Amino acid sequence: MEVIVQTDADRAAYLTALLIADKIRNKPDLVLGLATGRTMEQVYAHLARFHKRDGLDFSLCRTFNLDEYVGVPPESAASYRYYMNQHLFSRVNIDPRNTNLPDGMATNLKAACQQYESRIRACGGIDLQLLGIGTAGHIGFNEPLSAMQSRTRDKSLTRATLEQNAPMFGGNPDLVPRRALTMGVGTILEARHLILVATGAQKSEIIAKAVEGPITAMVSASAIQFHADCKVIVDEIAAAGLQGRDYYRWIYENEPDWDPYRALMSAYKPTA
Ligand code: GLP
Repeated sequence: MEVIVQTDADRAAYLTALLIADKIRNKPDLVLGLATGRTMEQVYAHLARFHKRDGLDFSLCRTFNLDEYVGVPPESAASYRYYMNQHLFSRVNIDPRNTNLPDGMATNLKAACQQYESRIRACGGIDLQLLGIGTAGHIGFNEPLSAMQSRTRDKSLTRATLEQNAPMFGGNPDLVPRRALTMGVGTILEARHLILVATGAQKSEIIAKAVEGPITAMVSASAIQFHADCKVIVDEIAAAGLQGRDYYRWIYENEPDWDPYRALMSAYKPTA
């Protein structure tokens, strides 16, 4: 695992977008795993800018989202399908037929989850999976005690998640759906590369547990420690609880692999 600390949330999002853009340029038919949440909005805004400004081409990309609420139709502004259309799909040249989210409206949820896994396999597996982290340590909607080998399935959401996601439901946790379909921890670990992004004070404690704490099903994000190619990109505030942050900074400053990115980051000027 590599932990990259950036000064602020916008720079963390920009670096993440640069890494994704490079993967797309190297493999135009990339199978990209996507995440939702406020943290990702900035990442998608940068990708949309790369498309508009530099012609970053999504036309052959296939995408698989981590999760979707059960019982929220795709046209509802609270669905993750709606979120993805709004923040990314409508802003780049992706073919909508190449975009996939678990079907939370399916009459047979179990069958829908199995089909999702089959579709991922049929595309040759996920090349790069983007991850956020919930305050209870979930990746996707893998709430505490999710098995490390779990596959796409439906999960009951914890109170902490209902509260964290309430803003999309008028601020009322009781209006957040109780269940969601999510890729499993095992599904996520099979992706060839992982990038987990976390920003803000709310994430500092859980990032320290996920990155440096024991691997435990109580913090499903700690499963990233098993992965052979995982980058964790955080801002200073989210990095505050990390014991090794000076070492992580040193790696970013000195590893030749990061040279081109450091150059791009120093030239970066935030828009507005
Ligand atoms: C939701 C998603 C997660 C995401 C999390 C983080 O719960 N299901 O996949 O990681 O939000 O959200 P935010 O970026 O808003 O903190």
